[in-house]
Amino acid sequence: MAIIYHEKSRIFHLTNDYISYIIYVMENDQLENLYYGRRVHDREDFSHLHQLSWRLQMSLVQPDPSNLSMHFVRQEYPFYGTGDYRSPAGEIRLANGSRVSDFKFRTYAIFPGKPGLPGLPATYAESEDEAETLEITLTDEVSGTDMVLSYTLFRDYPVITRHTRFTQTGDEPVMLERALSASVEFLDMDYEMLQLSGAWARERHVYTRRLERGLQGIQGLAGTTGGAEQNPFIALMRPGTTEKTGEVYGFSLVYSGNHLEQVEVSTFDMTRVLLGINPRNFSWKLCRGETFTTPEAVLVYSDQGLGGMSRTYHDLYRTRLVRGEWRDKARPILLNNWEGTYFDFTEEKLLAMAKKARELGAELFVLDDGWFGKRNNDWAGLGDWFCNLTKIPSGIDGLSEKMEEIGIKFGLWVELEMVNKDSDLYRAHPDWMIQAPGRYHCQGRHQHVLDFSRQEVVDCIHDMIAKILSTSKISYVKWDMNRYMTASFSPALPADRQGEMMHRYILGVYSLYERLIGEFPHILFESCASGGGRFDPGMLYYAPQAWTSDDTDASERCRIQYGTSYVYPLSMMGAHVSAVPNHQLGRTTPLSTRGNVAMFGTFGYELDVLAMTEEESAVVKEQIIRMKKYREMIQLGSDFYRLLDPFKGNETGWICVAKDRKSALALFCQTLNRVNDSWIRFRLDGLDADVCYRVRYSIGEETREYTAWGDELVNIGIPIDRADLNTQGGDFASILYELCAE
Ligand code: DGJ
Repeated sequence: MAIIYHEKSRIFHLTNDYISYIIYVMENDQLENLYYGRRVHDREDFSHLHQLSWRLQMSLVQPDPSNLSMHFVRQEYPFYGTGDYRSPAGEIRLANGSRVSDFKFRTYAIFPGKPGLPGLPATYAESEDEAETLEITLTDEVSGTDMVLSYTLFRDYPVITRHTRFTQTGDEPVMLERALSASVEFLDMDYEMLQLSGAWARERHVYTRRLERGLQGIQGLAGTTGGAEQNPFIALMRPGTTEKTGEVYGFSLVYSGNHLEQVEVSTFDMTRVLLGINPRNFSWKLCRGETFTTPEAVLVYSDQGLGGMSRTYHDLYRTRLVRGEWRDKARPILLNNWEGTYFDFTEEKLLAMAKKARELGAELFVLDDGWFGKRNNDWAGLGDWFCNLTKIPSGIDGLSEKMEEIGIKFGLWVELEMVNKDSDLYRAHPDWMIQAPGRYHCQGRHQHVLDFSRQEVVDCIHDMIAKILSTSKISYVKWDMNRYMTASFSPALPADRQGEMMHRYILGVYSLYERLIGEFPHILFESCASGGGRFDPGMLYYAPQAWTSDDTDASERCRIQYGTSYVYPLSMMGAHVSAVPNHQLGRTTPLSTRGNVAMFGTFGYELDVLAMTEEESAVVKEQIIRMKKYREMIQLGSDFYRLLDPFKGNETGWICVAKDRKSALALFCQTLNRVNDSWIRFRLDGLDADVCYRVRYSIGEETREYTAWGDELVNIGIPIDRADLNTQGGDFASILYELCAE
């Protein structure tokens, strides 16, 4: 790994065993990207790649004779006003109203390690030799604004992280109207764009399209990463790219607020990728001495297809984004009471459920919504973070003690950013909810969003919840967020700072998380937003796992978990077995399939265990035993390979292969059953060709075994008999294959 500066040719080369990223300081002192992709040899000079040619309608930025036009070079961080007609990455408005700027190279620093981003989530290096950082400072002299472009290269991954910082040194303040995290440009447009889009209960479905000239992209404007609708991630890949082959560039934003991922193809077929905080509804006033830091963008390059890209994101995010003791610990198997009781529970019922869960082998009981204030339905109670003693006479402290006596850990649901008008908190502080003066107060699920851009609001909520956490035996917290945001306005901000509100809100959320995980380092946090509405890398920095979707139907979960796996590791994906008919779509799937699918995540149950038959209880017991055997490998020590794409066919297939390739767990799951249909060969991936594996699987009551070499399992595959799928339940049948080196 090295970041080299060739002083004579004014070229920076960031390179490790996998990638090269080459930056050139052009003759006008702006920065050009000469190359980003598979590693190339270093040399003194790459400036022949700085190609100029005269074209009509160029705005030249150097005195004649010159052909240098910013419209035809791949800029590192484009601004408006120096001859580029495409969308900029940054925009500042000066006191005189001008939006023209010209940031020129001034200095640079190269140093080992990776600095943190103040108040923001970011990947990290654990030692100085794991990563190296380049910071290039550019200055716009007229406004007196400095801009630092920060790049970190990781030694062991094809990864570069980027963010940008602005510091005002001039006397007059400037308004940052656009401050994206990164811009990355390519010389041609021969790419497909992949995105993860959806909605409540169908999050992160996979969509691809060919790039076209002009603008395309995705954005989130709902305050919670954009809700379930657009995940802050895109990939560009060469046409024909598969799971195993082809070049892919991944762009992932470590942020949980409004975001933008935009691709612009010029009429000269050049492609510009921009990502960062959504400029809509954003501005930031920067006074002398103040600094603004953008969120981090994580760029992954893969020449091993989409699978290669995903495995890089998984390893990086699992080990260098997640923090705290839970990073390296297998996750507890839990029972959550939500789908089992909704709001309708008593202390007695909860204890009975916990006792049964414990008998089945579960380790954690999670009390979901409804334990606080006057929360008997979703009209009341949010904001009143004290126990409803009518429902739980022992209080949360007493209940948690009783849980420990049963032998099960106890976890609690909260929704700290919200308030119901029917709450003591609202009655005491009606001005604490986000509302624009004179406008109708839009509500969603009868609730409103608290103004987390205000310190006193965050402090008050902190004190309420910290009291509960410190007086009870709580080992897990599910932090929910069920409202998207609109009509942003904060009475605490002056008119010229209203554009800061949405970003300040998310900084407030981050600060509360940071405080709570600092004060309660043993608690496992799980983030949630009406299911997977805030499933992003920013959250992962604070909460090691997230509720993937409210849709707990096993077949739908195949698609949701498959899509989510493009970026996010299995250790992040909350996955539960629920009752049938499924509460979201009325479908009945076999219990074996519900268990098999949930195994590929952080495993748990979400149903009324007291209503289960003896037969079902026996199956659940076995599922829990199996999960305990494999969870370390699945969640912490394996590589994940997608095998059969549920967005393209009737089957889902994937496999977790242990890092030492001595064991593996593969899932085959079909949607609808078919009779008298084609042969099925389930081809695996990631195995060691020279290892002979014992393959074990169950069909109905019968367990079967056979041995096969890794190369056979990968190249020929496992033959699947359609009669076995009938035995496994027909529609939505699945088979779980356990592989172990002989
Ligand atoms: C939405 C979450 O996604 C559910 O799991 C549950 O916690 C409900 N909120 C409770 O209101």
